[in-house]
Amino acid sequence: MKTTIQQVSKHLEETVTIGAWLTNKRSSGKIAFLQLRDGTGFMQGVVAKSDVSEETFQTAKNMTQETSMYITGRIVEDKRSPFGYEMQVTDIEVIHEATDYPITPKEHGTEFLMDHRHLWLRSKKQHAIMKVRNEIIRATYQFFNDNDFVKVDPPILTGSSAEGTTELFHTKYFDEEAYLSQSGQLYMEAAAMALGKVFSFGPTFRAEKSKTRRHLIEFWMIEPEMAFVDHEESLKVQEEYVSFIVQSVLNNCKLELNVLERDTSKLEKVQAPFPRISYDDAITMLKEKGFTDIEWGEDFGAPHETAIAESYEKPVFITNYPAEIKAFYMQPAPGRSEVVLCADLIAPEGYGEIIGGSQRIDDLDLMKERYEQHGLTGEAYEWYLQLRQYGSIPHSGFGLGLERTVAWISGVDHVRETIPFPRLLNRLYP
Ligand code: 4AD
Ligand code: MG
Repeated sequence: MKTTIQQVSKHLEETVTIGAWLTNKRSSGKIAFLQLRDGTGFMQGVVAKSDVSEETFQTAKNMTQETSMYITGRIVEDKRSPFGYEMQVTDIEVIHEATDYPITPKEHGTEFLMDHRHLWLRSKKQHAIMKVRNEIIRATYQFFNDNDFVKVDPPILTGSSAEGTTELFHTKYFDEEAYLSQSGQLYMEAAAMALGKVFSFGPTFRAEKSKTRRHLIEFWMIEPEMAFVDHEESLKVQEEYVSFIVQSVLNNCKLELNVLERDTSKLEKVQAPFPRISYDDAITMLKEKGFTDIEWGEDFGAPHETAIAESYEKPVFITNYPAEIKAFYMQPAPGRSEVVLCADLIAPEGYGEIIGGSQRIDDLDLMKERYEQHGLTGEAYEWYLQLRQYGSIPHSGFGLGLERTVAWISGVDHVRETIPFPRLLNRLYP
């Protein structure tokens, strides 16, 4: 019977066949240990000279890394491995022999691995990260579906920019100028006026010349937008959502977190509610922590975010930033128009900002004023202003960066390992 590594627990003490690749092997005169992978998982196959034909034993002993095969044997428990099962091999049918696979079990440099990303994805660690990414996506759909949100897909080719005009990818749209979307937010605001609570999940693009461990040129964002929801209520949704995805990964990716050697005790603490600190207090805290140069009105960089996050075991919201350093659409705080009703959610352990969100301006005149201040003109914005013209309401939303969230939950250093084919400054290959 044909099965997969993921399903072997259902076939204990049965003989099954699995389509697999060889990742590594060890052998002596009488026994060969094959490290197998089939895409669904990783498992050891044990080939004892006494159990198989001489030809099969020689095949096993001489097999090269990444050779593909159908392998048949009995599934037994293996208490020594975290996976818990192994195969006592009785037959091997080679499908394709691989020669000189470039990624060997020895250490390789990052650039070499990045050049071979199409093959690197096969490794155990990369496999685990992709499974964690998948679980976060699955849990995201579950969370928003369970809470009556409707999935809406904003366009990727757009005529307007949401997050400032300097980091846009320009492209020709027949005779017009178009951009690749930096954020679906403006469209999601329109969708919230039609459907109440909505969320999107899609690729976004930023032509940022940043070469850091947190920046991708193409990254995936989850953007919920909620009608009749104020900033404070939005923060509750954010902390419930982030707690839900972390707990889902803890429950459903135990093997992967083990492969990644993730300290899960840190993730177990990620339960709503999350602490909040105002931008004003964050400035005071930073000065106390030795950032004596920082002045009120300046944006925070990675070292500032890390220093603030160090004071907490959970993600922390930094709220009410100065209007000057935030996007044009954010609602001023009541009685204090120099700050806005917004928050960045900073992940623990130095992973930085994973969510940016805010209450949106709902007053037409104020929105027009902001347009002028930010030099935003043109008919691309006409439709967005109209949302404030016909039954305008308080509404809020946020964007969670998927790759930074995967990096944090998986405990990997750099976002380049959290997306199958990263687009980075100077990297479009493979
Ligand atoms: O803070 P940002 O720029 O917010 C927005 O785009 C809002 N329009 C979202 C909204 O309210 N609907 O981006 C949101 C998140 C960040 O917190 C970060 O996690 C991620 O997107 N992000 C990036 N991730 C990887 N590489 C980059 N270059 C990123 N830029 C932002
Ligand atoms: Mg931001």
